[in-house]
Order: sequence, then C-alpha cells, then structure tokens
Amino acid sequence: MATERKVKTIGILTSGGDAPGMNAAIRAAVRRTLGKGLKAKGILKGYEGLINEEVFDMGARDVSDIIGKGGTILYSARCKAMHTEEGVAKAAETCRKYGIDGLVVIGGDGSFAGAQKLAEHGVNTIGVPGTIDLDIACTEYTIGFDTAVNTAMEAIDKVRDTSSSHERVSIIEVMGRNAGYIALWCGIASGAEDVLLPENYDYNEQAIVDHIIDTRKKGKKHHIIINAEGIGHSQAMAKRIEAATGLDTRATILGYMQRGGSPTGKDRMYATIMGAKAVDLLAEGKTKRVVAYRNGEFIDYDINEALAMKKKPSPYELSLVEELSYSYVIH
Ligand code: F6P
Repeated sequence: MATERKVKTIGILTSGGDAPGMNAAIRAAVRRTLGKGLKAKGILKGYEGLINEEVFDMGARDVSDIIGKGGTILYSARCKAMHTEEGVAKAAETCRKYGIDGLVVIGGDGSFAGAQKLAEHGVNTIGVPGTIDLDIACTEYTIGFDTAVNTAMEAIDKVRDTSSSHERVSIIEVMGRNAGYIALWCGIASGAEDVLLPENYDYNEQAIVDHIIDTRKKGKKHHIIINAEGIGHSQAMAKRIEAATGLDTRATILGYMQRGGSPTGKDRMYATIMGAKAVDLLAEGKTKRVVAYRNGEFIDYDINEALAMKKKPSPYELSLVEELSYSYVIH
C-alpha cells in the first residue's frame, strides 16, 4: 500500500496514440491544479520527454483556446525506454529534480503500466483513459472514442453514397488495434451489412460472400462491410470477395484521420471532468489510481486492478448488426 502524501507540483503528460479531447483534459488538469494553489508543469512527448527532461511551467494562459482542438499540445510518444528499469529510474529522477511529486498520465493501458512503475519509485501518479480504441476495461468511456466514431461514421456515409451509385461492395477498415469497439459502433451507426471484429471473427469469408449474394437477391444496391484494423488485409479481402461474387468490390482504409479533428461535445465534457478529477485525487494524496466512467459516475480504480480487468464488445450489440440490416427482414 502506497502511503498517502499531498502533492505540491503536478506534472501532466500525454502518452501513446493521441486522441481528440486530450487537450480538454490537459486544460482542466492545469487549471484545476492552479485553482488549488498548486504548481503545474507540462511534460512534452510523454515519458520520452520526462526521461529527456522536457519539462516546463504551465500557467492558465498556456491552455487558452485548446479545448476544441484535436491532437495534444503536449505532443505524445510511445516510449520503449519506460519498459526498462533504467528508463523508469531516469523518469523518476526527472520528477524529483523538477519537484514533480504528482503526475497525471493521459493515455492507454501501456501508459498506465508506466504510471504504476513510477508510483513504485515514489511519484504519485493518476491515469486518465485517453485512447480512441475504448479498450480500457475498467471504464465505459475513453477520451477520443466518441469523436473517432463520429469521424469514421461520416466518412462511411460518404463511401456508402458512391458505393450505392455504382452498386458496389465496400470494405471500410477502421482503427482500433486489437479492439473492435470503433468497428462495432460505426457498423451500427452507419447501418452496415457486416461488421468484422477481431474479438470474434471466425475468418469464414464464404459466409460473407453468401450474405452479399443474398442481399443482392433481396434488392440491396450496396453492401458495406466494416472491417476492424485488428483483422486488416482489407485490400486482399476485397479482391477475393470480388472474384467470388462477381461484384465490384473496393476497400477503403480510413487510417489516421480517425485520430484527428475537433473533439465532440461529449469528449470535451468527459475529458474535462476526468482531467479535473485526476488532480483532485492527487490533491487528496492518492496515488496509483486510474480515473474511470462507469454506470453514469466518474470513479477511480487501483491501477493494478484496472490493468487486470477484461472486457469485450457486447454480443447483444453485435447481434443487432445482422438483425437490423434489411436483408434479414422477412417480407
Ligand atoms: O491506440 C490508438 C491507435 O490509433 C490504434 O487504433 C492504432 O492501432 C494505433 O493507435 C496506431 O499507432 P501508431 O500511431 O503508433 O501508428
């Protein structure tokens, strides 16, 4: 059990893949810190910047006009050195040198593992879930997911227009590393005919081909397949499906556009609450915690407990994709 110790200087960093809403969390964390009469320090490029001492004082004006901006003003990185004992020791040394006794880490599971190690070195740390993937098991919300889904959904709607005009099959690949949440939400929100999730895809391509042929017979002018990044290979899949069905088939990989853009109202609001709550926890002397949203409440978990939790996309939601796509309706 880490001993509870109140902090005087709070460092803030963003780590891993950036996500729309991170700036809202940074703004809230900085201003909440200053509001409590504590000092705020920004750390550039995540743990990389902590190891390389890229640390600077932050005032209220440094976070003006950023709430609506995508990306992260603190930059982000995936830091290999934090997987080594030397790297963690150096990061902890920087914290001591700059008087950072509390650290807000905005990122995903990998970033929380770094926060957990730093806490063992005596730096109070609080994780804030920031990833478009929604793949942090302890929370029903992660910063950036809502914006990424809306960005991808708008793009899918556009592909659908041209797919209909040409009576094509379209495979649209969305991000999410090994997690299918973006694919599932986009699939439902855009009325896709098939959604392929890494969590349960059985690689039965014949079933997709049969489904396409069936929907054509029922008069559908297009067939949208949302493929998750964790499955990938959309171009090759398109070629095989075209050969098997005789229908024009195109693949579109949405890629990094899903990580950018102005955050939605939800991402601004939830990220703001989470950034402020992380500071509240540090000010109460808490450490090794992760902020989470569950059952309508903002709560916090022990980092180890959070990292050990598991979750999967809801089978009920997945069942809706098939059932609500028009082809299954009996006339
Ligand atoms: O974690 C967010 C994410 O965008 C994933 O969906 C994707 O697999 C990964 O980051 C890409 O990472 P990188 O920016 O390192 O290429």
